[in-house]
Amino acid sequence: MKISDSMVKSINDQIKAEYDSAYIYLAMSAYFEDAGLKGMAHWMKKQYAEEVEHAEKFIDYLYQRGARVIIPDIAKPKDSYNNALDVFKTAYEHEQYVTSRIYKLVEQATNEKDYATISFLKWYVDEQMEEEDNTSGIVSQLEFLGDDKRGVYTVDRELAAR
Ligand code: FEO
Repeated sequence: MKISDSMVKSINDQIKAEYDSAYIYLAMSAYFEDAGLKGMAHWMKKQYAEEVEHAEKFIDYLYQRGARVIIPDIAKPKDSYNNALDVFKTAYEHEQYVTSRIYKLVEQATNEKDYATISFLKWYVDEQMEEEDNTSGIVSQLEFLGDDKRGVYTVDRELAAR
């Protein structure tokens, strides 16, 4: 069954959203490098690479369905933050936004009875649950620590292990 033009358009829009996400995390990584939080910088760089993979997975899916991929421009990400908590809160909020986008894609595929796309999107639904869990977990840790700099450095060292 041929994939619909509107589904192709929505997936192309999502490819852009994934590259925008990648850049947001790359900018967060640069912020942490500058702040001397090397572990967090490393964590965000890994997240950047994961987002690129998310985009590429969508690209390959469109190729597989014989559809046209449009390589998008990437939005300039925000590059200043108050502190580590501010960064991870922003990351968590961003992941919730991405989840809502993925759910909309599932809804559209469901309405179009596009079972191949529904099946393909399941991976993203699971991935989003994991990403929200990871980022909200770090937010909780940093909220608990507050102004405890030593504690923040301990979290930084833990995140270096990603
Ligand atoms: Fe590709 Fe973090 O969602």
